[in-house]
Formats: sequence, C-alpha cells, structure tokens
Amino acid sequence: MSDKISGLTRRGLAAGAGALALQGCVAREAPPRPLASRQFPPDFLWGVATAAYQTEGALEADGRGASIWDVFAANPSNIHDRSNAATACDSYRRYGEDAALARAGGLNAFRFSIAWPRVQPLGAGPANVLGLDHYARVVDGMLEAGLTPFATLYHWDLPQTLQAAGGWANRDTAARFADYADIVARRLGDRLARYVVLNEAAVHTVLGHVTGLHAPGLRDGDLLGPVTHHLNLAQGRAIAALRAARPGLVVGTTLALMPSRPAGGALALWNRLPAAGFDELWNGAYLDPLLHGTYPEQAQSLVAASVRDGDMAAIHQGVDFIGVNYYAPTYMRLDLNNPSFVNIGAPPRDAPKDAFGRHIDPSGLGEMLARLRTRYANPNVLITENGCSDPFSDGPALIEDEFRIAYVRAHLEAVKREMEAGARIGGYFHWTLIDNWEWAEGYRSKFGLVAMDRATGVRTPKRSHQWFAALARSGLLDES
Ligand code: FCB
Repeated sequence: MSDKISGLTRRGLAAGAGALALQGCVAREAPPRPLASRQFPPDFLWGVATAAYQTEGALEADGRGASIWDVFAANPSNIHDRSNAATACDSYRRYGEDAALARAGGLNAFRFSIAWPRVQPLGAGPANVLGLDHYARVVDGMLEAGLTPFATLYHWDLPQTLQAAGGWANRDTAARFADYADIVARRLGDRLARYVVLNEAAVHTVLGHVTGLHAPGLRDGDLLGPVTHHLNLAQGRAIAALRAARPGLVVGTTLALMPSRPAGGALALWNRLPAAGFDELWNGAYLDPLLHGTYPEQAQSLVAASVRDGDMAAIHQGVDFIGVNYYAPTYMRLDLNNPSFVNIGAPPRDAPKDAFGRHIDPSGLGEMLARLRTRYANPNVLITENGCSDPFSDGPALIEDEFRIAYVRAHLEAVKREMEAGARIGGYFHWTLIDNWEWAEGYRSKFGLVAMDRATGVRTPKRSHQWFAALARSGLLDES
C-alpha cells in the first residue's frame, strides 16, 4: 500500500490526541518469550492459499462474465509490468496438477477462491451451471487428494455489471452478494463445507476505492465509509445466507490484520495520532462490527450515512473462525498537506525489509493474534495467508529460497508462541502455492513455494516446498 489515505477527521484526530496523551511513553518491546515446544498439534491444518483471479486464467471460459479486474488490467499502466491475468497459472485447466503439488507438499488443506463472475456472470440472476460445475470438479479433486478445501467467496473480483451500478458504494451489492453465497452453498455445500466469506475487506476498500492502486481503481476518500459498511453488511448477510442454505457449514472470514505504528523521526510523537486513527479504520472498522456489533469511534462518522436500522445486528454474526492474513506492520505519519492529515510513513531505517519495502516483523503477527485473544474473546483463528515475495524481477524465480523459509519459520514461531499463550489457532495457509499474477505488481512479484515457467506453465518446486512439506508431515518446526 502506498500513497495517501483519506478519511480521518480532524475531530477524530483531536480525540485520539487526548487518548494518546494519557497513555504516556511508547512501551519498550520485550524480547520474545522462548517457545515451550516447536511441535504443532496433530490436527493442525497445513495449507496453501490462492485466489481465482491470480491463478485461473481462462477468463472467457464457460460463460464467465467480466470482473472489475479485467477492466482495471486492460489499462496496462495500472500494472507494473503491463501484464494481465489472461493466462496466470492456467489453473482453470491445471487445477488437478495444483492439488497434486499441494499433496506432494505434505499439506492437508487448500484455500482457493470462487470467482463470482463465473457463478453469476452479471452479478445477479440465475446461476451459470458451467461455472459451478467447474468448482465442483475442483473441490472433488482436492478431496480426492486428501486436502480439506476452504473456499473464499470474494477475493476482489466483483462482476463488472455490479461496478457499473456503483459497486460496493451501492448498498444493493450486499444483497446481490448474499444471493451469490446462497447459490454456492446450495450447489457445492454437499462437498464444500468450509467458507471464507470475504478476503481482506480493508485492502479492497482502501486500495480499490481510495488510493486507486487496485480495481476498481477509484480515488475517492468519500467512498471509505460506504464501501467499508457495505462490505461488512454483505459479509453478514452472506454468512446468514450460507447457514440458511445449509446448516452445519463452517463459516469464517479473512481480515488483513496489520499493526499501525507511528513512523519515527522528528514528528514521532505526533505520528502516534495518525497511527492510532488508521488502526481503527484498517483493523477496527472490520473487527468491531463483526465481533462486537459496533464501529470504532474513528469510523463512526464515516459510515453514519450508510448505516440503517438492523444493519449492525446483521453484521454482528457469530463466526466459526477468523482468518488472519499477515505480511507486515504499517508505519503512519502526520501529513499536514493531506486533507486527512495522515499518510504512510517509512519503517525504521535498519529494519529488515521485504520486496515491497515493508518491515519484516513477525512480532506484528503475534501482536494482532494477541489482540484477538484478549479484546475479542479468543475466537478460533486460522492464519489464512502469510508469506513473502522474491525481490521484484521479471526474470526467473529463486529456487533456492532460503529467505522464504526463514520468513515462514519466524512467523510460525510467533504463531506457536501465541498458541502457548492460549490462542485458539487451528491452521496456517501459506501464500501461495505457485508464483502467480500478483495484482498491480503483475508477474514481477513471486510468492510461491513452486515456480512457474510462464511460457509453458511448467511448475518447479522450490526449496521452500520441500521444507514446508517436511514441516507439514511432522508438525515440528525446525530451528534456523
Ligand atoms: C494479500 C492478498 C493476496 C496476495 C497477497 C500477497 O493481501 O490477499 O491476494 O496478493 O497479499
């Protein structure tokens, strides 16, 4: 994420200032507690996570409708390497091979996403039988390979027809999404029992509607409130629709939980205000409505015009698990030139950085897991994404990817530490199986355990695939 974030109000910043003044100095970080054991429980889920648009290709196959990402990527200047996802990993055809690679990697679970425009090409109305049949085959293939499938219902690929009618700024989209969830549960629920309703609503809201770095490419701070609320509402209604269609489904949702820290430098103290405010908009505006039935203070004035009677009850759903996606913390700074007074700051200068320039900091994952445990009544949690990219390159992937192994090991240590503190964490899904089309980065960012030759689609497991396989088979996390 980069560029400006709008939406924090002057009043909110002033309120935050008071609260922060009361908190005193920034606490010094204690060194992480040593692990009691490096052994994960035998029923722990070890999986990979993927998304339809990043892997499937075959964008015209079997009556699929256009999505907002087709439109966004049709403008090559929106994508760093000017590529598109027309082929991606060709997983629409090679899904059997993908399941076999996961199985060969010792895994017992697979998170993938269902493309709404394959199920309802126009985002409303009757289901496209061919699209649903495809996902039935995908799920059957996973089950045959001994993998427990987890399906994300929405990984950012909104049918373009709905965008033309206002997309997530239009309240009606929430109702359309519940219809889609109902269709999926009725057709696939006999074999597909586990659902992740939304992927990272915060990323989709901010990058898609405020900074314009993702589809639908809008740059409008006024959309922050309505889009946040309608995604929350859509999620609540879809959870209810899934359960009404088939009692007994396991239903959760995935959030991009990200510690929001004050950037350092001369204004470090003042940067605590934007950091605290942004935390409420990025983390709290999705966690609180779902788990507490309220919006945090910073979000309230933004969503007020969109909230109607009954909405908060519809959003406040008991979920079977919270999916946590974690990559890095963010650093925020005061920016008096920005209407919101807030902007993205730099991580500490000496911090280890990932390909995106973000601070590699496993303690941030521990922090967010601890927050769930202590402030949100210790829900069941799955780590639904975590991983790191090769340095950006248009060349081949790094097969000897020791850096990826070190990243995953350190983050799993943070997970295990939290489990030992009492967190109920049931699994870890690595992002991702195969190098794929990484949204606005195109193919230059590679997160896979498996490399792919773009010309032939041939897959080559990396060192990390072997390492992760040994871990998944034994449940024992090695030491560096
Ligand atoms: C997450 C997205 C996923 C992928 C990874 C690297 O934010 O959910 O699709 O882009 O980042």
